[in-house]
Amino acid sequence: MSSCVKIEDFRRRARRRLPRMVFDYLEGGAAGERGLSRNREAFSKHLFEARRLTDVSHRDASASLFGKRYPLPLAIAPTGINGVLRPGGDLMLARAAARHGIPFCLSTASTSTIEEVATASDGEKWFQLYVLHREQGMLFVKRALDAGYTTLILTVDVAVNGKRERDMRSGFKVPFRLSPRIALDAALHPLWSASQIRHGLPELANFATAQATDASSQAALMNRQMDASFDWAAFAQLRNAWPHKLILKGLNSLAEVGLAERAGADAVILSNHGGRQLEDVAAPIDTLRAVAGKCKMPLLLDSGIRSGADVVKGMAAGAQLCLLGRATLYGLAADGEAGVCDVIKMIASEIDTTLALTGYPRVSEIGPEALLAAH
Ligand SMILES: Cc1cc2nc3c(=O)[nH]c(=O)nc-3n(C[C@H](O)[C@H](O)[C@H](O)COP(=O)(O)O)c2cc1C
Repeated sequence: MSSCVKIEDFRRRARRRLPRMVFDYLEGGAAGERGLSRNREAFSKHLFEARRLTDVSHRDASASLFGKRYPLPLAIAPTGINGVLRPGGDLMLARAAARHGIPFCLSTASTSTIEEVATASDGEKWFQLYVLHREQGMLFVKRALDAGYTTLILTVDVAVNGKRERDMRSGFKVPFRLSPRIALDAALHPLWSASQIRHGLPELANFATAQATDASSQAALMNRQMDASFDWAAFAQLRNAWPHKLILKGLNSLAEVGLAERAGADAVILSNHGGRQLEDVAAPIDTLRAVAGKCKMPLLLDSGIRSGADVVKGMAAGAQLCLLGRATLYGLAADGEAGVCDVIKMIASEIDTTLALTGYPRVSEIGPEALLAAH
């Protein structure tokens, strides 16, 4: 993958390898996709204020969360249906994260089970839970606990799915229904088709039960289990049930971060789900600049991160770690586990260069003074 010089190159490779329908699932945002664009534009709006003549001969990209130090200020964000990009996609992401010493977060909607991922990777694993009915949620909590996941992430911006127009047009859903258009799309991408045929079409593996043995019944089960009535009282029950660190993902305002803090969350991921849920909301990097310093809880960031410079901006704005969503998925789709490793290495190298050029040798010590005042 040496010919890739930026994340956009991995994105192009992913687009070439995947059928249009699958690429659109990976890439798409909600409604007219203004949120998707806003996330990216926000990163270009925040500018560095570099220091000069500081010693940057030794640079350190390590960062810590909850007292644990990681070699890079990164984690891999939870993403569903990874097996449609590459069979075994969850396992590849988990192993690549472990190789680089960063946490991997497995989605509720994964295509490998909680237990398979635990066996495949000895790295740090987090489990992402959707707002599910209590009994189903507690079942997953117990499985994640038994399998050694260290941190639970509750995603709170999916009371229902966002309106993803690309998926509505293409007919993307689990299980796949073969229309002539989808069959042609697959035929034009033979490498992808061959790998999917060899391994079998992906299933919502965590929902497999004696009653839900195929993708269709698993998807129906997952839809039935989504609980749009989940509220702060339900969160309190989850808080009691999970003995380790519990992070809320999908908050995007100071007021909500305050509520999370009072409700006993250990940290918050400022996120708008990569622009896939509600279209007209703030870019989380903007929210982070407004929230940082006004709460005691660690803040993490995702949505729109496509370079090491973006990560350094996130850290300067007050993030403790930044999560990669589409960036690592481009690598996965382009070249499997090696592609994910290449993306992490590229971002690590860009972080290093950015630290040298901004005059801040340690990413953990960079703060808002490294950014021009927000306006
Ligand atoms: C294809 C795809 C699937 C996703 N699935 C989930 C999911 O199952 N659970 C979840 O909490 N977030 C999910 N997300 C959101 C990511 O965790 C993350 O918030 C988002 O990708 C960050 O934005 P970025 O892709 O611009 O980096 C998904 C994102 C993508 C792109």
